[in-house]
Amino acid sequence: MAINFYRKIKRSIQEDGLIVSSSVFLVNSMVGKIDFGRALRILEIGSGKGPFTREIIRRMSPDSQLDVCEIKSEYNPWIEELMAQHPDKQVTLYNGCVTELLNNADYYDVIVSSLPLKNFERMKDQNAFLYRIIQGFRFALKDGGIYLQYQYFRSNKADIETVFGKVMDEVDFVPLNILPAFVYSMTK
Ligand SMILES: C[S@@+](CC[C@H](N)C(=O)[O-])C[C@H]1O[C@@H](n2cnc3c(N)ncnc32)[C@H](O)[C@@H]1O
Repeated sequence: MAINFYRKIKRSIQEDGLIVSSSVFLVNSMVGKIDFGRALRILEIGSGKGPFTREIIRRMSPDSQLDVCEIKSEYNPWIEELMAQHPDKQVTLYNGCVTELLNNADYYDVIVSSLPLKNFERMKDQNAFLYRIIQGFRFALKDGGIYLQYQYFRSNKADIETVFGKVMDEVDFVPLNILPAFVYSMTK
């Protein structure tokens, strides 16, 4: 039984990059950086069971649009329940790799990413996939749009700065999360 538990945790870290869902402190730190006072096109990537999705849907105006991208369809019931609770909000759920949603230039006002960027470094492609994803974020963001990303251990900050060609606008530390996390804010 202990071995099964250990295997589950190991799989969760390797595939999803986390042990438990993000805390309310991390969610509020990240979502609190979004100005919901106007109509927004928002892309949320890597929703999992939806800790960020819940708060974004709650705060967004009815004339805003939220695209939720999650590669694993096993999380659909959680997201679909949130969508059902807010029929007045415009939310679309996509199951697939986020690269499929990054083809329109200057499209999103806000990108909220929980992607475990650090995990992509393990791929044997000299970080080509990692860079394709970050370049895709920059391409899909409107000028003045904001890319929000959390990471543990300050990882991949330099990669994001290289692609955006500037230093990070803000880095916040949220200790009350498993694991403690850094929140990156990068405007285009
Ligand atoms: C660290 S978890 C975050 C879950 C949740 N947002 C949270 O903070 O608790 C990362 C999520 O990204 C998803 N994911 C990984 N690679 C992806 C990709 N290429 N496109 C879309 N989602 C992906 C995983 O399935 C996982 O649910």
